[in-house]
Amino acid sequence: MTQDELKVMVGQAALAHVAPGSVVGVGTGSTVNCFIDALAGIRDRIAGAVSSSEASSQRLRAHGIAVLDSNAIERIPVYIDGADEIDPNGHMIKGGGAALTREKIVADLADRFICIADVSKRVAVLGRFPLPVEVIPMAAAQIARHFAAIGGRAVLRAGVVTDNGCHLLDVHGLSIVDPRAMEQEINQWPGVVTVGIFARHKASLCLFGTPDGVEEMRYSARPDAT
Ligand code: 5RP
Repeated sequence: MTQDELKVMVGQAALAHVAPGSVVGVGTGSTVNCFIDALAGIRDRIAGAVSSSEASSQRLRAHGIAVLDSNAIERIPVYIDGADEIDPNGHMIKGGGAALTREKIVADLADRFICIADVSKRVAVLGRFPLPVEVIPMAAAQIARHFAAIGGRAVLRAGVVTDNGCHLLDVHGLSIVDPRAMEQEINQWPGVVTVGIFARHKASLCLFGTPDGVEEMRYSARPDAT
């Protein structure tokens, strides 16, 4: 099977986790696009979606799915999104599609984060995929220096302005053995809007697309889950 076929497979499999009548949290990326296309088939059976990017909102609306204001929603049962890497505990690197901040916001509204990914995203240790970090533009150089001090090489993602009007750094060369600690540390640096480590907001379940079908991996609940 091609990687695209694996994405279609997990996009469809995720429908089983959408409760009738519920508001669904929707991520961003090529795998999520497959989920959105599958969701169109049950659009009359859901209350709408909370979206993590302008791109996903556009696709949802094109399918006739209502996109709801996140400020009007208190909780959603499930958030479905892809990942750039996922480790054996469900910690992820996200933000390859530049939507990490809104993704973390929608993940924070959700009772469960279900990750959908082809099996190539599974890693032992996070960090081979350059870590995306959304930053306030005037802090970019100083944040790059902070990364250099911990062995990372931050590269500005040329020509990219996020949905929030900010810039992105992609940080190469990190080996993220303690994702929770590193997420917490980077969050303290002035000018960091969001770091693409999803440890506090990790997945509770991942649906991996493999040539043999969809493989489910469940992860222990995050200790500070709300
Ligand atoms: C976007 C993301 C995506 O979930 C991640 O980049 C995976 O994308 P794809 O499904 O296209 O491989 O974090 O910001």
